[in-house]
Amino acid sequence: MSKNYTFPAGFWWGSAASGPQTEGRYDGDGKGDSLWDYWFEQEPEKFFGGVGPERTSRVYKMYKEDARLMKETGHNSFRTSIQWSRLIPDATGEVNPEAVKFYNDYFDELIANGVEPFVGLFHFDMPMALQNEGGWLNRKTVDAYARYAKIAFELFGDKVKRWFTYNEPIVPVEGGYLYDFHYPNHKNMKEAMRVMYHEIVAQALAIKEFHEGGFDGTIGVVLNLTPSYPRDPENPEDVKAAKLADALFNRSFLDPSILGTLPEELKWLWADSGTTPDMLEGDAELIANNTIDLLGINYYQPRRIKAKETPVEGDGKGGPMPEDYFDNYDWPEKKMNPYRGWEIYEKGIYDCLINVKENYGNIDCYISENGMGVEGEERYIDANGEIQDDYRIEFVRDHLKWVHQAIAEGSNCHGYHMWTCMDCWSWTNAYKNRYGFIAVDLDNDGARTVKKSGKWFHQVVADNGFEA
Ligand code: NOJ
Repeated sequence: MSKNYTFPAGFWWGSAASGPQTEGRYDGDGKGDSLWDYWFEQEPEKFFGGVGPERTSRVYKMYKEDARLMKETGHNSFRTSIQWSRLIPDATGEVNPEAVKFYNDYFDELIANGVEPFVGLFHFDMPMALQNEGGWLNRKTVDAYARYAKIAFELFGDKVKRWFTYNEPIVPVEGGYLYDFHYPNHKNMKEAMRVMYHEIVAQALAIKEFHEGGFDGTIGVVLNLTPSYPRDPENPEDVKAAKLADALFNRSFLDPSILGTLPEELKWLWADSGTTPDMLEGDAELIANNTIDLLGINYYQPRRIKAKETPVEGDGKGGPMPEDYFDNYDWPEKKMNPYRGWEIYEKGIYDCLINVKENYGNIDCYISENGMGVEGEERYIDANGEIQDDYRIEFVRDHLKWVHQAIAEGSNCHGYHMWTCMDCWSWTNAYKNRYGFIAVDLDNDGARTVKKSGKWFHQVVADNGFEA
């Protein structure tokens, strides 16, 4: 028996991307270096196929075609981000007029095609001028970020009505300062917690600028939530370990962003590991008084946790690490996306939404990313040149069923954005795994071809749902 999954009227259907992963760099564009430009210059061999951030999907040149293709695939909204290092090349000085022109034209083009631009201010892309002074480790960055945010609101606030302070602010913490997958490749929990704290304070300042400046619209944050499931929900040690992981990776940004407080479990973990960041007088009040209006939830995979069983190793040099407090648990029944090495667990998206409903005042939210990266999609090209990505259709549909269920139970979820629209550059994985509704041929000037999933999505939006 098939069931009808109809979504609320006005549901935001679309996809997400980011400036650094799509725009590319061109002579005369005036862009300054971000840490990605710098890192690629230093160590190009770390990037899949030697493809760097200057050679992304050419959106700087192709945004008009892209806006048209978004319309063609049914989008009514789309999230991207402004690159700080494009708008203010040295991060703290003058605004780059070429960037102002580009973003105005880009946003106008989206709007003309019936696609509302949702705009982020920071997507892992610290300007190199600030990274050279420590980036998020340096308190100076907090004020520089708030200034940049205000400039962006002033310049583009007439056309952008949904702003996001960050995309996945835990990733610079994890990638840059804990697990060595982003520049500057440190492994130092004390530094990581300082980076986290500075991001929290900077966000509060930017929200203050937005609300006090009387700008029209809403401001939110996009968090990658990884619901933490204990190995055995009946075992108190497993449950305690899962709670600590949740406090560190999810509630560290959820709580201050929505409730205006830091979780007690996080403060305990900081104290126990000797990693409590320096706090200034007035910070707590600032955080308490400047919370978000809208939450974006990126959901890809759950986190499975068990009580600590392996020896505590710290960072190998005697410093603490989060894994001193829990072990990751390999659930034997898990379903995997073999390309990305991530577990696929559809119900997790529902658990995230219900958690927000029950523990975070049912704040307005939407699914800001969800998707499936697949390597070698050329294998699935049919005689007409179209990628038959049925696996992606299945993935999106199966997650949407759980989103539908959460809404039926009262979640204030207002939309679903897939990652991503045009295949884009995935950091050090570059173009290894493809995520888009639309294929990009890098060897052919970035030529775009809509995949089967793009056509399917168009129909879903037209029907405001599907039967399955
Ligand atoms: C999350 C991030 O926001 C995005 O930058 C990344 O490329 C996708 N997930 C896929 O891994």
